Amino acid sequence: MQYYIVKGGNKLEGEVSSSGSKNASLPILAASILNKGKTYLKNVPKIHDTEIMYQIMELLGIKISKEDEYVVIDATNINNYEIPDNLMRQMRSSVILAGAIIGRCKKAKFSYPGGCDIGVRPIDLHLNAFEKMGIKIEEENGKISCSTEKVLGNTITLDFPSVGATENIILAATLSEGITYIKNAAMEPEIVDLQNFINKMGGNIVGAGTKEIKIIGTNSLNSVEYEIMPDRIEIGTLLCAATITKGNITIKNIRIEHLIPVIYKLEEMGCKIDLKENEIKLQAKDKLNACNIKTMPYPGFPTDMQPIMGAVLGVSKGTSLIVENIFENRYKYLAELKRMGAKTTVEGKTAIIKGIRRYTPAKVEATDLRGGAALILAALNAGGTTEITNIKYILRGYEKIDKKLELLGANINIREGE
Ligand code: EPZ
Repeated sequence: MQYYIVKGGNKLEGEVSSSGSKNASLPILAASILNKGKTYLKNVPKIHDTEIMYQIMELLGIKISKEDEYVVIDATNINNYEIPDNLMRQMRSSVILAGAIIGRCKKAKFSYPGGCDIGVRPIDLHLNAFEKMGIKIEEENGKISCSTEKVLGNTITLDFPSVGATENIILAATLSEGITYIKNAAMEPEIVDLQNFINKMGGNIVGAGTKEIKIIGTNSLNSVEYEIMPDRIEIGTLLCAATITKGNITIKNIRIEHLIPVIYKLEEMGCKIDLKENEIKLQAKDKLNACNIKTMPYPGFPTDMQPIMGAVLGVSKGTSLIVENIFENRYKYLAELKRMGAKTTVEGKTAIIKGIRRYTPAKVEATDLRGGAALILAALNAGGTTEITNIKYILRGYEKIDKKLELLGANINIREGE
């Protein structure tokens, strides 16, 4: 099992570029199934989650190869429509393939993704939407079978602006008959990236990034090349790493409009931030101000940044409140931070964090992807050596985050354990 050894205390300084977005790559990889031909994707992050997507796609009969900086997906022939249980369990967001497989094959079979480290993660909104689009859903022994003669356009109002449900509806509706409207749609930038990719292939979608999305079904798509948007959560993580080490960094290849709620909070904490066209420069201050965070669907403060910001607030001056409104179990990282001296209590959806002067080194265990990133930040701040185990979670969603941090002056090494 791999683990990190982090010798804390170094200020992060210098320049680094972000990788492509994990949460844009997964739905766009799924969308490439809709094209009976080749698709060329650039800036797909080399992470465990994209590797799992490739494994599932190859089991469907799709050929995946690498050409220079491109991932090449050849979906000319598909000879299977079932997502295997073991891979579904390894990555619950593979449910995003369902809409694309149904869109292409008019049937799909998969198991309930099951809960994960941050919550129950139901898919009722996905399945209800599929039924409204004329897709028959049968459930037996934990397996879900979807089938239809043809996917029909319809108007679907989501109880909650679910990112995955919004994406799955788009994927099922792209090659459908008629027009589909999604109301109360999620507005995340990754959905705009998905719309832009599908429209470049010849799809006809408008409204991504707003509460209402319109998909006019089309009957064929063509082969394109496309560059995935930068990963706004990785960028936020690097900005917080510089903040917690009182550093001064520049990150290139960013989209400022994706980072507004995070930039706003970092400035509230006292960081000085300069923005250029696709570049951000952050100068942290020695004593950080406490502040309050409420996670909300985009364009509110992103839930994926909650644990990462929680680590920074843990060494700010004063008491901060966090309210986690999206997932019901996203505070597990706080128990690990307590081993490093954090002073926090959780009351329902609210975490109360009393800032301490500095974290103390310890042996800690990653509880989930973003909780694991929070532990890296605390270790960068601590004086001494921290060991972070269970880093498989972190490797799922961050491309070479240790190398990026090392480039900025961090002392972090990956080790092979027993
Ligand atoms: C996506 O997950 C992201 N994952 C998550 O990032 C992110 O935290 C989340 O959106 C919110 O922004 C990917 O894009 C691969 P949701 P998703 O459906 O689609 C409830 C990370 O760290 N819900 O918007 O699963 C659900 O329980 C990951 O990169 C239902 O009740 O999120 C949750 O409380 C973590 N029924 C809320 O909606 C449903 O059918 C938000 O979930 C679907 C969701």
